[in-house]
Amino acid sequence: MRSKIVAGNWKMNTTFQEAEDLLYEIADLMNERGKGDTTVIICPPSPFLEMASDIGVENDFFVGAQNVNDHESGAYTGEVSAAMIGSMGITHVILGHSERRTYFGETDTIIKSKVALALKHELVPIYCCGEVLAEREKSNHFEVVRNQVNEALFSLTKEDFSKIIIAYEPVWAIGTGVTATPAQAQEMHAFIRGLVADKYGETVAAETVILYGGSCNAKNAAELFSQPDVDGGLIGGASLKAEDFVTILNSFKK
Ligand code: 13P
Repeated sequence: MRSKIVAGNWKMNTTFQEAEDLLYEIADLMNERGKGDTTVIICPPSPFLEMASDIGVENDFFVGAQNVNDHESGAYTGEVSAAMIGSMGITHVILGHSERRTYFGETDTIIKSKVALALKHELVPIYCCGEVLAEREKSNHFEVVRNQVNEALFSLTKEDFSKIIIAYEPVWAIGTGVTATPAQAQEMHAFIRGLVADKYGETVAAETVILYGGSCNAKNAAELFSQPDVDGGLIGGASLKAEDFVTILNSFKK
């Protein structure tokens, strides 16, 4: 059985105090309401990772970074390496987010190096893929996602691939309030699972966690998560509101 996972991507939001308050608020609500068998991963800004990790250990959630550099170490002023993140008890890292592709010029070749370094330092990559609106309008979305997954992930060994979490995040749905319909999400998730099956076999494909991201909120999460190939969500805006985030992580049908 695949894990059910809800991850919060806080992006470049919160001060230290706001982050600490939000983490305790989420922890308190989770302790109050429970979280079933959902695996919860919170990805705050990198300066707050250690503080978040300390709270996570006490409250049964994992903490992930939002990025790492594609080099092992060296003269890259201001950058954060996979070795650094991996050495401080952090378990996951978001890689290939569309904001990094768009604003920081990340290609799948760069992301592939990041995936390799993350795995080397025992971080679970949450690999993001997804098409922009123009690509969907031209019915190119399957091809775009196929190429992204192929280039960034499909040279991994079966053993390494089995550690990856995939997040399908259609770019037109990120931060726009326009969510993919459950049918659109299911269609793409099933397509991605099919690609994995072709490359690594049915057993690996059946175990691969594929999250949906893009304007997923407390109101639409239950319907999205009820789709057979949607294993949870990567949540942006709604992960900054404790009430909404805890509602989302409890949105799986029992
Ligand atoms: P929103 O939930 O704010 O649309 O962001 C999704 C996202 O980018 C998660 O990584």
